[in-house]
Amino acid sequence: MSHFATIVRVPGDPILGLMDAYRADSNPAKLDLGVGVYKDAQGLTPIPRAVKLAEQGLLQSETTKSYIGGHGDALFCARLAQLVLGVDNPLLQERAAASQTPGGTGALRLAADFIGRCLPNRGIWLSDPTWPIHESIFAAAGLRVGHYPYVGADNQLQVETMLEALNQVPKGDVVLLHACCHNPTGFDLTPRDWKRVLEVVKARELLPLLDFAYQGFGDGLEQDAFAVRLFAAELPELLITSSCSKNFGLYRERTGALLVCAESADKLQDVRSQLAFIARNLWSTPPAHGAAVVASILDNAELKRLWMDELEAMRQRVVSLRLGLVQALQPYGLAERFAHIAQQRGMFSYTGLSPAQVQQLRDKYSVYMVGSGRANMAGLAAQRLDQLARAIARVCI
Ligand code: LMR
Repeated sequence: MSHFATIVRVPGDPILGLMDAYRADSNPAKLDLGVGVYKDAQGLTPIPRAVKLAEQGLLQSETTKSYIGGHGDALFCARLAQLVLGVDNPLLQERAAASQTPGGTGALRLAADFIGRCLPNRGIWLSDPTWPIHESIFAAAGLRVGHYPYVGADNQLQVETMLEALNQVPKGDVVLLHACCHNPTGFDLTPRDWKRVLEVVKARELLPLLDFAYQGFGDGLEQDAFAVRLFAAELPELLITSSCSKNFGLYRERTGALLVCAESADKLQDVRSQLAFIARNLWSTPPAHGAAVVASILDNAELKRLWMDELEAMRQRVVSLRLGLVQALQPYGLAERFAHIAQQRGMFSYTGLSPAQVQQLRDKYSVYMVGSGRANMAGLAAQRLDQLARAIARVCI
């Protein structure tokens, strides 16, 4: 008897699968705009100098490899919570805290299982479209998954339709909102829009889960935290998932956190006891290295300054690539059609290219992007803008 005989193959991950296809392509002029990874002008994903220096310090000072406990590295959690909520946020005295997780994805899974276990019968509402892994993580946790409109077929942000839909969400359900640098579209809400969303959240008594994976890649470290801090100030309860993958360049170290804001110090401890229990069953204790690196950087004024400068340089580079691509499309009469690329925020751009055009770009020009038309603008190099514009023009005109 074969135990595995009935097992069928499932399709590969739509984003990570592109990495393999790209590696297998022998065209020297290939372009990787798939997975959300920052690349420098040489096409490399650098380790920030601040990270290297922190790692050198850790190599000397680290004295043990013993477990770091259910909520992870305490210094990392404290400093990351300050980065997210603001250094002097009074919530941090006793009503808010972070639990370290393996990356932002781990934080989402922890949040999903927490909702499934502790808030039974609550549905979760995701933007349409959203990061595909949101769909599978919450489904895997057994939650009822619904959608609210976000970007329509015309590739425009639909704030009014979004608000109308959120107004219909059953009271008490959870709503996942991308705090900045919306993945996959790159279209972000304005501060005014956020205030309107907040009013609906209050009226419907929804529990927001803010996914905050790109702090520092949109308008800047503090500016990107606008929605998170607004919601934390105005609501008694909130969940926030934070990732250090992109802003610290720690992708493979799996470094992130789930932050909880609760109504009281006592309730926060109740929630955290549940998170520790769930985490113990998922990954036991989180990996130490990335968190120790982040803690060393955020706890040292000099390293923190260096890291902030490096992050700002990455952010500005992506902004200039966005502008550069629109300019490079000008000779083909496509600058207006793709003007939104310069307005979007963060790593990703919903280009508006159709799945067939994306496939053509890949087959004919070795340009790799997600089938939805999402391009990782942070994967581009300035000297390749003309090449990309030419390929886009060929599939569009
Ligand atoms: C992406 O959307 O490309 C990134 O968030 C990386 C990932 O894990 O999918």
